[in-house]
Amino acid sequence: MRSAIGIDAIGISVPRAYLELGELAAARGVPPEKYIQGLGVSRMAIASPDEDPVTLAVEAARRLFAGAGRAPDDVGYCAVGTETAVDHSKPVASYVHGLLGLPQRCRVFETKHACYGATVALLGAAEWIAAGSARGRSALVIATDIARYELGSPGEPTQGAGAVAMLVSERPRLLELEVGQSGSYARHVHDFWRPLHRKDALVDGQFSVSCYLEALDGAYADWKERAGGPLERTCYHVPYGKMAYKAHRRRLAADGIGEAEADARFAVEVAPSLAFSAQVGNVYTGSLYLALTSLLSGAGRPGAGARVGFFSYGSGCGAEFFAGRIAEGAAELCDRLDLGAPLEGRARLSMPEYEAIRGGDASPDRLAGAGAPGRLAYLGVDGRERRVYSADALR
Ligand code: CAA
Repeated sequence: MRSAIGIDAIGISVPRAYLELGELAAARGVPPEKYIQGLGVSRMAIASPDEDPVTLAVEAARRLFAGAGRAPDDVGYCAVGTETAVDHSKPVASYVHGLLGLPQRCRVFETKHACYGATVALLGAAEWIAAGSARGRSALVIATDIARYELGSPGEPTQGAGAVAMLVSERPRLLELEVGQSGSYARHVHDFWRPLHRKDALVDGQFSVSCYLEALDGAYADWKERAGGPLERTCYHVPYGKMAYKAHRRRLAADGIGEAEADARFAVEVAPSLAFSAQVGNVYTGSLYLALTSLLSGAGRPGAGARVGFFSYGSGCGAEFFAGRIAEGAAELCDRLDLGAPLEGRARLSMPEYEAIRGGDASPDRLAGAGAPGRLAYLGVDGRERRVYSADALR
């Protein structure tokens, strides 16, 4: 019998500052209930000028290794899913590989398909192990992004930033994946896109919601044909919490379950996975895995053996539905990893501070909470446009 493959450890990181959505609502002349209840988001993480997808990815991985009792020397696959890459050629994974001091005998690459990019990397890692390529080594998979829309646009309250690092291995201590059983869906649509010269995404908001739900129909139907069966919890891609609520209704409708029962089941099956995202906002590639982290951390978390479904959606669009089972001892390991710690002690930005960051008019020392000791910082580019990090201590 093939041994289990899955997620052995997780670490997250978020920017050190956040904006209260109530404050954003007041500034934009919108009732705060629209953002807080209507979208299901209370705060969004805002990256400072010295934080980028590389620093967030490295911080998440450093937390993972520090807490999980696993060594970077055992990593033979380092993949970073992101849709906010820092270079058209050099992958974020290359910076991560260097900054963490991973072995040179390592497959290192970046994956992109909007918010679905990290899922490609994760399932690829599981298949790399199943194929026998790992030879006892682990895979490091990181989802990292900074979600940005134009100021004042409908997308603005659905921004956020952060990274989720996952170690994938045989005999995983958190989640055993059902490898080779996922259901896929793809369709060429322009629901959300970001041309190469733009920092802020463009989106056809309401259309993107319908594309997400149609992709869920397609990927879930494909999954049911090859795997199917009951799920005790489901984690969805979370651009904002309300989207997961709509998704759960839609998925259960596909099983012939009405809205009243779906709503009753939502509190147990989905709500615990949304606690972190309500404090962080959209993390694009990381949102689904932030949902898993939240599910594993909070009250009402599932016990060993519980089967969890996952829906990954990337605009454009590509999607996948897959499942896994909570491993024996996962709860104790999660307590040791203290997964939610990065959400504590963050600095609250004022609207002028937020707008100064977005206007490119902020330097790190002008910002609340700046200069956190021991954190990797992005310092800018040198004379040949090479990115420079405060990394010497880490090398
Ligand atoms: N009190 C309580 N609720 C209120 C309210 C009030 N005063 N006013 C409005 N609401 C509710 C609305 O009823 C609505 O809820 P329902 O969807 O359940 O009806 C909710 O608040 C949002 O209101 P609107 O639909 O009117 O909001 P909007 O059109 O201004 O913007 C959005 C919503 C289109 C999602 C916009 O935020 C957006 O474009 N976001 C970016 C795109 C996005 O996240 N798409 C999600 C699917 S694509 C994806 O998942 C990939 C990805 O990560 C981007």
